[in-house]
Amino acid sequence: MSPLSAFVASLGLVSLGSAAIIPKLNAYPGHDVAVESRTMNEIYAAAKNESGELIVLWGGDAVSQGDPTIAAWQARFPDVKLNLIVDVSKYHDSRVNRQFQRDGTDGADIAVLQTLHDYGRWKREGRLLPYKPSKWEDVYSSIKDPVGAFTGMYIYQFGSLVYNNESLKASEIPETYEGFLDPFWKDKLVLTQPNDDDAITYLFSIIIEKYGWEWFEGLQKQNVKWVRGTGEPANYVAEKNSSRIISFATNVITAENVAQKSVEDTRILWPQTAAIFATTPRPESSRLFMSWLLSDEYQQQFINNGSFLSRKDLVSKSGSVWNEPYTALTQFSTFMENRDLVEWWRLQFETSLGVAIGVSPVESFYGRIHD
Ligand SMILES: *[C@@H]1O[C@H](CO)[C@@H](O)[C@H](O)[C@H]1NC(C)=O
Ligand SMILES: *[C@@H]1O[C@H](CO)[C@@H](O)[C@H](O)[C@H]1NC(C)=O
Ligand SMILES: *[C@@H]1O[C@H](CO)[C@@H](O)[C@H](O)[C@H]1NC(C)=O
Ligand SMILES: *[C@@H]1O[C@H](CO)[C@@H](O)[C@H](O)[C@H]1NC(C)=O
Repeated sequence: MSPLSAFVASLGLVSLGSAAIIPKLNAYPGHDVAVESRTMNEIYAAAKNESGELIVLWGGDAVSQGDPTIAAWQARFPDVKLNLIVDVSKYHDSRVNRQFQRDGTDGADIAVLQTLHDYGRWKREGRLLPYKPSKWEDVYSSIKDPVGAFTGMYIYQFGSLVYNNESLKASEIPETYEGFLDPFWKDKLVLTQPNDDDAITYLFSIIIEKYGWEWFEGLQKQNVKWVRGTGEPANYVAEKNSSRIISFATNVITAENVAQKSVEDTRILWPQTAAIFATTPRPESSRLFMSWLLSDEYQQQFINNGSFLSRKDLVSKSGSVWNEPYTALTQFSTFMENRDLVEWWRLQFETSLGVAIGVSPVESFYGRIHD
């Protein structure tokens, strides 16, 4: 290999014959890439050639939410060190944006976040490395960028009722959010403050659009325990003898005394979306991570627990997300793009509830489960 083509190869550039070299470093127009055709082991072999830790910014609000992915990666690809950092998406993107302004780097190889409005802007700014992971063609078209700048990897949701099933019977759980205005639910609810997380902001906005401000005002009479983060409500619900026994602002159901009930009411779904930063010094490791997230082996957990899926060729007990009668998958990103609207709702909630107080949800949740 000539020094130039070795250099080009090391950058992940594609050479066409010996003359034409088309750089594929970022998602500007004209840089459409082919879908990954290598096997996972072939990408792994290329990734092993790279050095340093693969830094993945993982949107979440409990450090433990990253543990299964970290453990599975270490078992499958022990020679590529993974540094997967869990924090709320709005702090991850904020740090990335500040670092980029300071020195033109992003401080990470990959972002897997809830803040869907970031991806279009990062793409327009030429900051994403286009990549179509293996199985990309099986991902629903509406949740991926046509040129592979970013891809919806799995489907998250809020709005199911998560409850302590030692304290409550399934038959006691309301069928709609309106049911929570019954005096029976006074002192029993724990909810994420809706001005602290855009997904909860959106959930509250669509509930209020349906049931009116009366619903929100009624809810405030129920002496709700308001917390930061969407992991923390589940901790309250799971506590033995807790008085806070139900939430619709979490999706964590890992404790043995916690169960989940879907309501036939509006709720929210979104594709948790991933992209590679164009500044990555580890493009092959990044490609490996992206292809692995979409792989049969990684997706199996979502089939096992009955989640909706981003891949149309796989089947879980929930069926196709496009048949979901209560929520529209793509509406959350429409909301997120409209920052003026998000701010309008956030301030509505702040007007009534005040600002969210306390340490970052990751720290408080972490503290609670590790104390
Ligand atoms: C690893 O790097 C070496 C030296 O640059 C190169 O010869 C080899 O093809 C690379 N292996 C893979 C799998 O990319
Ligand atoms: C729960 O309450 C019961 C009855 O008051 C008490 O005996 C038990 O120790 C409590 N359990 C915990 C974990 O606090
Ligand atoms: C509570 O729900 C879990 C499943 O999330 C189940 O394993 C457990 O048996 C249930 N407990 C009771 C008391 O129903
Ligand atoms: C399924 O597992 C994923 C990953 O652990 C989790 O985010 C999701 O909430 C779970 N969904 C259900 C319905 O249990």
